[in-house]
Amino acid sequence: MLNIVLFGPPGAGKGTHSQRLVSRYNLKHLSTGDILRSAIQEQTEEGIEAAKFMDRGELAPDRIALKIIGQCLDEFNGTTNGFVFDGFPRTTVQAAEFDVLMKNRNTAVSLMLSLEVEYDELILRLEKRAQHSGRIDDGDISIIKNRIQVYNQQTRPVKEYYKKQGKYVEIHGMGTVDEIFQKICNVVELIESR
Ligand code: AP5
Ligand code: MG
Repeated sequence: MLNIVLFGPPGAGKGTHSQRLVSRYNLKHLSTGDILRSAIQEQTEEGIEAAKFMDRGELAPDRIALKIIGQCLDEFNGTTNGFVFDGFPRTTVQAAEFDVLMKNRNTAVSLMLSLEVEYDELILRLEKRAQHSGRIDDGDISIIKNRIQVYNQQTRPVKEYYKKQGKYVEIHGMGTVDEIFQKICNVVELIESR
């Protein structure tokens, strides 16, 4: 299986490149952010709890993110060539527990692709997207900045977890979407040819 963790700060292009990866390599896209936004719309217990954090640009509890991923793996594992994990794992606790979830299902993360984008470009992209996204956490520049700060403090350390496993690959995420996606595909094809 090809299991890609697509990593990067808010606005780095995780969602954009997930969609392309999914169609090029026939994978299943699992975005914890998208799943949580659906849960909020449906007003499930988890959605109501997560909304308190998401609306402020904070992380939802690890327990909720892990439950979502466990349920999705049970639903789709064995029916797909692999997964693109978009926005998960986001803490080292999630990363360690994720390894257990994957191992219990006889699979593993293949690689982490980390999209590296400069701060000013992240702000520009998110402010532009805010005009049409309808996302509450795009609605205010202070929430956008808080999301980036939360990434730097709580999520960035997850890179070290995958570096230690020899699964970490950095992608320069500035430039056009086509240019960046080509670099991503080059890495994926190298991994697949091993
Ligand atoms: P999530 O939905 O994952 O949001 P995020 O990490 O803030 O990232 P975004 O979706 O804003 O950006 P992206 O990297 O997907 O970029 P995109 O491709 O859209 O999480 C939201 C919240 O949910 C979190 O804050 C947290 O509360 C909660 N949550 C989610 N997962 C969790 C977890 N595991 N644990 C705990 N809590 C969790 O691109 C951005 C924009 O830029 C788009 O408009 C795009 O068109 C444009 N763009 C993309 N690439 C380029 C380019 N190369 N040039 C110009 N524009 C570009
Ligand atoms: Mg996204």
